[in-house]
Amino acid sequence: MNVLIIGSGGRESAFAHAIKKSNLLTTLFVAPGNGGTAKIAENVNLQENDFEGISHFCKQNKIELILIGPEVPLVDGIRDFLEKDIELKDLLIIGPGKIGAQLEGSKAFSKEFMLNYKIPTAAYKTFNELNINESDVFLESLSPPYVLKADGPAAGKGVLIIDNLIEAKKELREMILDKKFGESSSQVVIEEFLSGTEVSMFVLTDGESYVILPEAKDYKRIGNNDTGPNTGGMGAVSPVYFADKNFTDKVIQQIINPTIKGLKNENISYKGFIFFGLINCEGNPKVIEYNCRMGDPETEAVLPRIKSDFLKLLINCGTSNLRETVLDIDNRTSLTVVLASGGYPAAFEKGYPISGVENVEHSLIFEAGTKTDNKLTTTNGGRVMALTSLATDINQAREKIYHDIEKINYTKKYFRTDIGEDLII
Ligand code: AMP
Ligand code: GLY
Repeated sequence: MNVLIIGSGGRESAFAHAIKKSNLLTTLFVAPGNGGTAKIAENVNLQENDFEGISHFCKQNKIELILIGPEVPLVDGIRDFLEKDIELKDLLIIGPGKIGAQLEGSKAFSKEFMLNYKIPTAAYKTFNELNINESDVFLESLSPPYVLKADGPAAGKGVLIIDNLIEAKKELREMILDKKFGESSSQVVIEEFLSGTEVSMFVLTDGESYVILPEAKDYKRIGNNDTGPNTGGMGAVSPVYFADKNFTDKVIQQIINPTIKGLKNENISYKGFIFFGLINCEGNPKVIEYNCRMGDPETEAVLPRIKSDFLKLLINCGTSNLRETVLDIDNRTSLTVVLASGGYPAAFEKGYPISGVENVEHSLIFEAGTKTDNKLTTTNGGRVMALTSLATDINQAREKIYHDIEKINYTKKYFRTDIGEDLII
């Protein structure tokens, strides 16, 4: 079968590597892809928001399955666009429609959904221009720190955690009245601060059944020991020791099952990944956020642990046959470290040649912000590549990966040196 992946990050490289292994694959395309996907698939010069172009490409190239990596095209309705085209009626689309993607696209929507289906999450209230006068009373009822979330997408910057009450009141007004994050903050969710350790769980659902993928911990801050600004993720580890059977059973009963049932109940036909951003509050899981896609860099840590045919898994999702699917999981530890361009997540330089990749011995390489022209690969983004190594424990995985990272060279290479350290037991 011909497959098209939409996206250009490390997550899409990991998808491409996994799909490439399948005997069911004929040709693999990635749009727009990156320097790494160019080496194992055919990159297509189409941007993720070019729905017309993508639809045309699917028809011209007899694409039978399309996997949408990032959230933006999903939130903007790529599934709905492709589904209404009769010529694409047999195309298997992996990713939810516009309404299902609201689980990620609108914090107000996802909080209301969780409240309706009694899914454990932080207490909250939603405010906009009309009820902003009631916000002071709600903020005063909470204990610091105060969590303010722009309703809509804000490129990972829309969540503010503020210690001071006066400052929280001021920020809320800036978000709603001065549109600090544009239209995305015309509505703001204020919620109770939860303390605990975060873990991400992932399911692939066909709307009726689901399979659970291995869980992962993501390292969001740019600096060691979780310091500095938030990024899309600087590393990941899977499995996470505290997500044991007892914890996972609670997640299944209290969170995953009611989510799948809730979607069905709301007549939201959902075929794709659901990413549950969870926090472990003294042994009890609560949902911090939903995403309507896989995580990046979590995918780079999770997929290498899936031994089953990944394309077959996607086909089973697309054809509503997940009930029959059992995943074969590698029980080793997978550790991912992201190599970035110095300066990221603020301004950074690009265009520097990358060397030494061929000397990497013990790790998988998933390129992200790279470009390959005439066999020369150069840096082309903030997150340049992710390396993943599998080993019997975190210590060994760390040893392998940091040894391999030394072999890769480019100007302004930056990475965190503490990935996984906090999970060593
Ligand atoms: P979100 O975009 O909702 O995932 O929020 C981004 C990050 O802010 C999360 O990964 C958490 O680290 C933190 N965060 C969000 N909501 C809360 C909360 N209610 N309590 C504590 N931390 C939170
Ligand atoms: N690594 C977090 C995310 O993909 O949203």
